[in-house]
Amino acid sequence: MTPTVDFVLDAPDLPVRPVPLVTIRGTGEPVAVDLPVGATLFEAGARVSAGIDTACVGKGTCGLCRVKIVAGAEHLTPYSDEERKHLGNVYHLTRVRLACRSKLSGGDVTIEVVRRRK
Ligand code: FES
Repeated sequence: MTPTVDFVLDAPDLPVRPVPLVTIRGTGEPVAVDLPVGATLFEAGARVSAGIDTACVGKGTCGLCRVKIVAGAEHLTPYSDEERKHLGNVYHLTRVRLACRSKLSGGDVTIEVVRRRK
């Protein structure tokens, strides 16, 4: 008889690091892109060519990269003074933020691109 060894693989509970998923609603079908924590919504839009307006290309100076937060606002960095300068104190009404100043802090987010230029 061949000896056998029974063992149980006792893997420790590994921490689960969520990879944020950003869903972008535009004129066509919604597009989803996953990005690391710390990436901006502007980077998410650029990844899928979502057509987020810009003149400063993510430097926070032009105020054009407006996106409406549809869901997951709690998974973004807080509304910043730079955003307040361009958008005012009406975020609680509009849910509009600057994509380049909004960083993912973990968890999924859904946005709509706000077009200013016609
Ligand atoms: S891209 Fe110019 S302010 Fe965000």
